[in-house]
Amino acid sequence: MSSEVSIQVSALGKSFPIYDKPHHRLMQMIAPGPKDRWYRTFRALNDVSFEVWRGETVGIVGRNGSGKSTLLQLICGTLTPSAGTVQAHGRIAALLELGAGFNPDFTGRENVYLNGSLLGLTRKELDERFDDIAAFADIGEFIEQPVKSYSSGMYIRLAFAVAINSTPDILVIDEALSVGDEAFQRKCFARIDAIRNAGATVLFVSHSAGAVIELCDRALLLDRGELIAKGTPKHVISHYHKLIYAPIDKQETVRESIRSSTAVIHGVTSTEYVAGSPEVVEPEDGACFEEGLLPQSTVRYVSRGATIEDPHIETLQGRRVNVLRRGQEYIYTYQVAVQCVAAAVRFGMMIKTLTGFELGGAASAPQGMSELIVAPGQLFVVRFRFQAQLAPGTYFMNAGVTAFEEDGETFIDRIVDAAMFKVMPDPYRLSTGAADFLVDVDVSELAREAA
Ligand SMILES: Nc1ncnc2c1ncn2[C@@H]1O[C@H](COP(=O)(O)OP(=O)(O)O)[C@@H](O)[C@H]1O
Ligand SMILES: [Mg+2]
Repeated sequence: MSSEVSIQVSALGKSFPIYDKPHHRLMQMIAPGPKDRWYRTFRALNDVSFEVWRGETVGIVGRNGSGKSTLLQLICGTLTPSAGTVQAHGRIAALLELGAGFNPDFTGRENVYLNGSLLGLTRKELDERFDDIAAFADIGEFIEQPVKSYSSGMYIRLAFAVAINSTPDILVIDEALSVGDEAFQRKCFARIDAIRNAGATVLFVSHSAGAVIELCDRALLLDRGELIAKGTPKHVISHYHKLIYAPIDKQETVRESIRSSTAVIHGVTSTEYVAGSPEVVEPEDGACFEEGLLPQSTVRYVSRGATIEDPHIETLQGRRVNVLRRGQEYIYTYQVAVQCVAAAVRFGMMIKTLTGFELGGAASAPQGMSELIVAPGQLFVVRFRFQAQLAPGTYFMNAGVTAFEEDGETFIDRIVDAAMFKVMPDPYRLSTGAADFLVDVDVSELAREAA
């Protein structure tokens, strides 16, 4: 990543005319009359500012209608701003919704040439790359058929193949990756990685929290046309989830708390972990409690009738710890106070890496199989016994309580990054990577060549 700005968005706004009756649009065209006579204006994007550095991958999340596609179209120049400015430096390849850019009557091959030239490739470059593009799209004989005969999956395959074979400086993707099978998605992610490694800037809208956390350096949260949070992907995604899972009547409060949140992290690096105080008590097994080891990224969802309290880790003897010894057993525990009547209640946990990757978790019953019915005033203590089969490093834990409601299983309380812990360095460790599969290594000599 460099210190060069790739995309600069300043006080960007976009309004659309809204016609209350279909014929008003026509009336506006043929008899404009006094200004604004036949329409109202709707602000799809309002005062949005941010910059993306060259080589950065930035994810954009937000509810439907929050202005994500509008923002991408303004960046790509397929829409013009009503206010503010956008500057994008370099060649942009875009995969916008509905795969704008293909002519339905032309064949796949013809569209590759048409689309490729729009992306700034010469005829010669396209001749050289055509086979790669066709191979990537992998749609067989359909490449010679008119695009209108394609399924949406084939369409997106071809559009993607052209876009990512155009060696763009900036790659813009609007939820296109959610189409297509997983194998194709993996192929696309691998290619996006290669494009990033080549130094390009990637901007993408995705519904997949996992993809944003895994791929992005930073993320932006749009809501009702406003940029309400930006920062590390993990941080932004937890706000996004908090927003979409909030009960309707709490949404406004949640939105305001996110907007005014002082926790907006503008940097690229993760700042969740603040080094603790040095006075560490060392009992025999080595596990101990470090005062300063507190998650700074805790997001508490709006309660829907239960409250998780005091999530923490203990030794089997009940001593509170957060610096663990690899391979030892511990108990992750929390209490739950109930304020509602709820059925099929389950209690859950999840252990995640620093980047938010979900390593593993557990629930008190399999999905759909809990027979627990709770009532106001009840208090539960939940204990998850687990073995710390993990590499030395820092980990985060979620806590959640679900119940069955009309619209399926929902969280009645949830805390993301409820607790954090470290696994202490272990010089005798043979395992590599985050998870320790208790691999038994055996090496024996078979034969020795005569000297
Ligand atoms: N051409 C348009 N005319 C009128 N309203 C539009 C137009 N394009 C988008 N909008 C409105 O702007 C808002 C943002 O849309 P969009 O950017 O597509 O959201 P997202 O991609 O986040 O779902 C929506 O309410 C949408 O209905
Ligand atoms: Mg959209």
